[in-house]
Amino acid sequence: MPSARTGKSTSTAQFVPSGKDWAVLRSAAAGCRGCDLHRDATQTVFGEGPVPARLMMVGECPGDREDTNGHVFVGPAGRLLDKALAAAGIDRSKTYLTNAVKHFRFTERGKRRIHQTPRRSEVVACFPWLEEEIRVVAPRLVVCLGAVAAKAVLGPSFKLTEHRGEVLEHDVPRVGALRVGVTVHPSAVVRAEDFTGAFDAFVADLKALKKTR
Ligand code: URA
Repeated sequence: MPSARTGKSTSTAQFVPSGKDWAVLRSAAAGCRGCDLHRDATQTVFGEGPVPARLMMVGECPGDREDTNGHVFVGPAGRLLDKALAAAGIDRSKTYLTNAVKHFRFTERGKRRIHQTPRRSEVVACFPWLEEEIRVVAPRLVVCLGAVAAKAVLGPSFKLTEHRGEVLEHDVPRVGALRVGVTVHPSAVVRAEDFTGAFDAFVADLKALKKTR
């Protein structure tokens, strides 16, 4: 898919060593130049957690805090996710957490870096990393957090609002049949007007999905 900035085709595929273990993947990902996002981001933020793991969760892309620290879900969305996981009885330390896109996308407003949703071209370009993570982590269930992650795994026409809380069977190229659960992104809960209602609904989704692991 062409880059919005250069118009050239972008893909991470040439940077992704296939058939290797997680440590090799993580260190190769640090040097990924498969799309334009690496230019402004501080670093690649690769997935983390036990390998293999029964449960894998996929977010959108790293935020400001994750970009600086180099770890997934350590900012405000991560703190919300931690609370929701605890309320749902899911142990974060036993869960592999990653993102559909491995670099922070943002615009600068004064000294602030404002998160921007990754473009479809960036999601597609980054997909080979996610594919390899799924292969090495070999989860029984992949939970997509939010529409960007869900569309990355299930395709661009997928509608989160129609399938929230459900588990779908899906074939992923190079991985095979995969069970994919879908719910909202924790940032949507952080921003919700009715925070308590949104948090409770998120926890209810996680509890229901947990039962299917
Ligand atoms: N949002 C995400 O989708 N992933 C992170 O790691 C942090 C915030």
